[in-house]
This record gives sequence, structure tokens and C-alpha cells, in this order.
Amino acid sequence: MNGIPDDPELWDDVPSNPSGAPSFSEIAALHISRRAVLAGGIAGGLAALAPISGSRAASGPSTLTFEEVTHTLGTTDAVAPGYDARVLIRWGDAVATDAPAFDAASLTADGQEKQFGYNNDFLAYLPLPPGTQGSTHGLLCVNHEYTNRELMWPDTGRGDALPEAQGRVEMAGHGHSIVEVRREGEHWAVVRPSKYARRITAATPMRLSGPAAGHTRLKTNADPTGTRVLGTINNCAGGMTPWGTVLIAEENFNYYFAGNAEAGPEAASRKRYGIKGRAWYAWHRFDDRFSLDREPREPNRFGWVVEIDPYDPNATPVKRTALGRFKHEGAAVAVSSDGRAVVYSGDDQAFDYVYRFVSARKIDIVNRENNRDLLDDGELSVARFDADGTMAWLPLIHGQGPLTEENGFASQADVLIDARRAADLLQATPMDRPEQIAVSPRTGRVYINLTNNSARDEVNAANPRAPNRYGHIVELSPAVYPGRTNVRVGHHEPVFKWDILLQAGDPADPDTGAKYHPDVSANGWLNAPDGCAIDPEGRLWIATDQGSRQIKRGVPDGLYACDVVGKGRALTRFFYRTPIGGELCGPAFTPDGQTVFVAIQHPGERSDFNAPSTRWPDFQDGVPPRPSVVAITRKAGGRIGQ
Ligand code: FEO
Ligand code: CA
Ligand code: CA
Repeated sequence: MNGIPDDPELWDDVPSNPSGAPSFSEIAALHISRRAVLAGGIAGGLAALAPISGSRAASGPSTLTFEEVTHTLGTTDAVAPGYDARVLIRWGDAVATDAPAFDAASLTADGQEKQFGYNNDFLAYLPLPPGTQGSTHGLLCVNHEYTNRELMWPDTGRGDALPEAQGRVEMAGHGHSIVEVRREGEHWAVVRPSKYARRITAATPMRLSGPAAGHTRLKTNADPTGTRVLGTINNCAGGMTPWGTVLIAEENFNYYFAGNAEAGPEAASRKRYGIKGRAWYAWHRFDDRFSLDREPREPNRFGWVVEIDPYDPNATPVKRTALGRFKHEGAAVAVSSDGRAVVYSGDDQAFDYVYRFVSARKIDIVNRENNRDLLDDGELSVARFDADGTMAWLPLIHGQGPLTEENGFASQADVLIDARRAADLLQATPMDRPEQIAVSPRTGRVYINLTNNSARDEVNAANPRAPNRYGHIVELSPAVYPGRTNVRVGHHEPVFKWDILLQAGDPADPDTGAKYHPDVSANGWLNAPDGCAIDPEGRLWIATDQGSRQIKRGVPDGLYACDVVGKGRALTRFFYRTPIGGELCGPAFTPDGQTVFVAIQHPGERSDFNAPSTRWPDFQDGVPPRPSVVAITRKAGGRIGQ
């Protein structure tokens, strides 16, 4: 129907980029021969990648010494021996003081607005008191990406006949939660009541700011100013700023709007964003905002990065238009060597791009208030990966190059609202679904998870497999300068170096083209890298999401980790496994590295309320599986991963 596969998990695989990838087959070959030189050169002693001939059980030279969990699907989760994995908060648990108790048989919108939302995704841990490195008391900020009605109610599948009462529960189950958490002794608990506790939903008032705010294309009947918008949706990953705010990304916003997508002046723009007028939800039936026919510009008010101040429960969330509009997977923040804020963000669709925003002003490290609108003014650019191992950031600036009136860009607002089309004209490199990005504060290197792209038929330098069924991880290396206490990194500079850290898949099957460190075990390889985080030791933690392929392949999703420097580079090891159907999201470490919080999203997906494949974590009849945040600590104390 409408070209949309029945399996919604595949919808990101449907390309909406008509510009076409230039054929770089021969360039890719050049790049691969260059890799060994690069690995030994700029990386200073990094082990070069080698093809795998088989899998082994030993941890080899990895600094990660935990015993791996196994590649087996199960109804409950599993963590490496010696670690404690405990549910901290579940869908339906209280956030507001007056939240009703969770009752699976009677979900209400009023209750859901006060309870922890559905499908926890991105997690950020912000210490209390603010500005400290406190690792036993803080705020946990949690995205709620989407809802699975087939697991929330009996006898409802995806479709558009849901009653309004249920639709409003879905809207309240979206958005974000802020909860206060404290470690007492061995275990973490949610602090209730808390002055910080807050729910943000698909109806929370927000402000649009930056160069596109107030533009005609952002004005609606309900908001003639083009600056006030209700709600945020499909919040996938995000980021934390050095000034103590959280950025949350609006990803698959295109699947929330119903109506005739081909009518009116926004038709071409909608097409590029995959807005086809068929929605996952039936919200358009009771809320004009989700009807393309009644509020044709409303989709232009989604697809942004939203900034939230979790320390101020009354602060209005702000959609920062300077960061561009696309299907933002996340928003990874770095500080450049000249003191400016840099935000990296992938656009998660087959053949879409990686973007970077550099603020015009420097971060004020003394007065937090001066950073309040820092993300409203700066330069957005898009990545072109070249075969010589360099990459260029191409600025998306109105009036420069092809971004002119003749090409349909009358202002910078048009460039930002139609960032995808602007990036097409600049000939950015089409990628294999850019997911979450992590920046290492130790080395300055930037890791981009490219989850997979079954539709790829021509390779390019940075996407070397066609089709790409298992995903890979690209490593960017900005210039690094010695600093007094830390490395200073040219995150703002126009040219970086890049390399491929690993190519996912089963290394025992040569047909996969998988490449890791040769010592990766039969349990240590992974498919579909999605979320990621860097621990205080500088190691990369990789969360996976295979979607429907998890059950087909019989390989669980979960949390893996590897060194990125030294002899254990790209030697991934399997640390934590989700219950069946679940993907692993959000890994977030406390500053001391002794706790990692993970979000188990959609446990039991591919089954339904009446016959769920798991009832994790409650395991009670009549209670469906519940997306939950899990706190993982080491029983003997000490840092995670030792
Ligand atoms: Fe929400 Fe691209 O994962
Ligand atoms: Ca994701
Ligand atoms: Ca995902």
C-alpha cells in the first residue's frame, strides 16, 4: 500500500532520496587499500582491521574482561556474570506525584500524562547538584519514541480505527520523562516526590526558535506566529550539552500525518521527507494538527532538535531550527578547540546524510544563562566522504553555491526546512541509515553507527557493502591539538579524516563481509548498530536494533563494547541482552563509569497483548511487556566493563 512495506521496521529502508548515489566502486577499492596506512598513521599504533577467518571464545587483547552473554533469544534479559541489572522504571510507573497506579486493563490519557511513557529510547544522566560529577544522585532524562498499540490493548493492531480515548493515551505515551534517581547502597531508585519530575508529551507547548522561526511555512491556523508548537514526536536519541541541557531528536515524524500529501505547495518537500499521507496513528481524526488537509504546514514544525532544561521543570522546550530539519536520529554534542559548540546528527533513512552544526558563539563556561540561545545561531553543514580518507563538511548557507532562489531557496529558513534537498544539491554522501553518533572526549574521534541499508546497490567509499544487511561503524578523526588538561579537537574544521571501525555481521560467514578484530568471539559479533556511548575509559558501547530480523536470525539485540585504540580495537564483546522483541537503546554512563543505564524498547514486539512473546519485566498474567529502563552495576563495585 502506497509502497510502504507491511513491516514498519523496514520503513526507514525505503529511500526517499531521489538524487541517487554517485557510483564510487573504484574509489572504495582505493579507500580500502589506504586503510592500513591510516590505521598505523594518524591513529598511532591502532591495530589495522583484518578479515575474520573464524570466531574464538577468548577476550584476547581487549581491556574489557567481563564474561560474555550468549547469542540466544530469551523471554528475559541477561547481563554478564558479576553484574547486577535491575529495572529502575517501567512504562506506566509514576513520574508525577499524583500519578495513578499502572493498570494494564484501564489505560487513560490523564494517567499516562503523569506516568512514565512508552518505548524508552535515549537516556541522559545529569548529576545533582548541577555542574558536579555526582554519580549517585542525578536526573535521568528519557525519550519515549513511539507506542505499540498491539501490545498496549487487547484486540488492536496498527490501523486507523482507534477510538480517540486510545489515541490520546498514545499521544501522552510519547515524548520525554525527567525523573530524579539516587543510588543507595547497591541499587538505584527513583526519588518520589521530586521537584524535577516532569512529563513532556505530543501536546506539550514548545517554542520554535532560530532562523526558521516565524517563517510563513511554519505558520498554521492554530499558530499564526509560526513560533509556538504543541508537542514533540518520535524522539529517538539525543545529546547532552556542556551547559546542562538535553537535546532530543525528532526522527520518524513523517508517519504521523494523514491526508492528501500530494496537494498544495508543500507536496515536493513532503515527498523528500517520506510524508505520504498514511499515518501510523489515527490522531488526525481528532486533532487537526495531524491532518495534512486541515493543517498542511504542521509537518514543517516537526523533524527538529528540541532543547530541554531538565533542571528547570517550568522551562519551555525549544525546537532549534538552526540545526536543520530532517529525521534526526540524535544530537551528539562536542566542544571545538576554539570553544564553540558542535552538534553531530545523522538523518536515519536509507541514502540520507550526516550533518554537523557549529555555533557562531563560544560556550560561556562561567555563566550558564549565556548559552541559553547558543544553538540558534551557527553553521549547518553536511558530510561528503572522499576516497582518500578525508571528508569535507559542506555548508548549507542560503545564497552560496546552488542554494539560491532559482533552486527554490528564498531564505535560510527554506534551506533549514528543506535541509535534505539542500544537501542533495551539495552532493553530500548518501549513507546506510546514519543512527546515533558518539564523540570520544579522550581522542576527539566521532563514531557514526550506520545500521544497514538493504536497498544499496552501488557502494561508495564510506558505505562499502551493497546491499548492506548488517551495518557498519564509521570513525571520524578531526585534527587534535595538545591541551593543558585534555586534547583540544578541531570539531569545527572543514576537513576531517575518516575510517571504518568495523563492518558488522557474523564473521564466521565470509558472505557477510564482516570485519572486526580477529579475536571476536562467536557471541561478540553484532548486527545493526544503532545506539552508542563512550565510557570514561574511552571505549565504545554499541546498542543494536535488528527490528524484525532479530527473530528471523535468532540473534538477540543488546549492548556490546569494544576498545577503539590499542590492541583490542574493534574487538566487540557482548555484555547485555534484551528480552525477545526488544531493542537496546540509550546507554548512558554515570561520570564515574560505575553505572550504565540502558533502555529496553518494545519488548515483545512482533507479538500482541493477547499472546505476547514475553511479559518482561512483570511476568504477570494480563500485564503486557513493559518498556523499561535498567540500571546495571558491578556487584563487586568498580567500573562497568572491567
Ligand atoms: Fe529511532 Fe533510527 O532509530
Ligand atoms: Ca535509534
Ligand atoms: Ca531503532
